[in-house]
Amino acid sequence: MNAKIATITLNPAIDQTASIPNFKAGEVNRVEWEQADPGGKGVNVASFLTNFGFSVTVSGFLGKDNIELFENFFTQKGIQDQFVPIPGKTRVNVKIIDGLQNQVTDINFPGQAPTESDLATLYQVIDDLATDHDWFVLSGSLPAGVSPDIYGKLVARLKAQDKTVVLDASGESFHQAIPFAPYAIKPNIDELQELFGRHLESEKAIAQAAQDLLTKGIQCVAVSMGAKGAIFAEADEVVIARPPKIEVVSTVGAGDAMVSGLVTGKLRGLSLADCARLATAFSMGALSQVGPRLPPKETVESFMKQVNVQSL
Ligand SMILES: Nc1ncnc2c1ncn2[C@@H]1O[C@H](COP(=O)(O)OP(=O)(O)OP(=O)(O)O)[C@@H](O)[C@H]1O
Ligand SMILES: [Mg+2]
Repeated sequence: MNAKIATITLNPAIDQTASIPNFKAGEVNRVEWEQADPGGKGVNVASFLTNFGFSVTVSGFLGKDNIELFENFFTQKGIQDQFVPIPGKTRVNVKIIDGLQNQVTDINFPGQAPTESDLATLYQVIDDLATDHDWFVLSGSLPAGVSPDIYGKLVARLKAQDKTVVLDASGESFHQAIPFAPYAIKPNIDELQELFGRHLESEKAIAQAAQDLLTKGIQCVAVSMGAKGAIFAEADEVVIARPPKIEVVSTVGAGDAMVSGLVTGKLRGLSLADCARLATAFSMGALSQVGPRLPPKETVESFMKQVNVQSL
């Protein structure tokens, strides 16, 4: 439990939710209630791991102009802040919830592009973190202008310092990091299919694809499949963890919760089957809350017995 964990979020976002019953484009709309959450995959993972008692540091890039929301959140949760501040604003994703017409409208603002010098600062921060952090979780999309080879470079750099690296990414940056073999990856089924460039129909085909990735030196592959659960593969074992039927309050952070549960399970020294059970319980927790939040630790742990884990 003494492991120190760092999460790296290169492209965080503020999730701004506004409730507007009967929203109409081209007209004046009144907001019924609103909520602004600091977001981004690594920020969510840091938040979830903190709930479970880990000491977590966050880094990546944050725009200076709206940095306060993040800083307040990190202070409130006791998360160590090592973000590199850059000029301008962190991107804002506006979600307009219309409960009357039952629709959600998304308006995603662009973010800022870090400069070469910002990137050099980030590498320096990460090297400094590597002196006393054991685990690194790299997650999410890349900001404009950052080369898709960055995750591969970071994985190589951290592995050279004996760090355990978990990667949750998609598209080209995910693809390019695979040969560098992070310790664990957690693609969802779409990301896995995109990586393989083909449709993966059956559980067997998904398990086979996960095992192919193990041959490249990745030690643990978790493939999440929404309501169908997740397949976890390691060299000597493949399991599927199926959640019960649950009422979904919000899907925000379900994947990030799975990553956090997997890291927690590994740090607790659990078997793959129990890691799968705990990771799924974390996701169930995230699904039961509005926004990227978990219920109390005991509630999350109590969900474990509802998860059905089978060998494949
Ligand atoms: N509707 C659902 N019912 C039950 N469990 C679910 C549901 N949706 C997701 N889960 C659980 O959450 C896990 C992660 O969800 P999902 O596969 O959607 O991740 P993701 O696509 O990576 O999400 P994210 O958008 O957060 O990155 C699933 O493996 C499953 O255990
Ligand atoms: Mg995901």
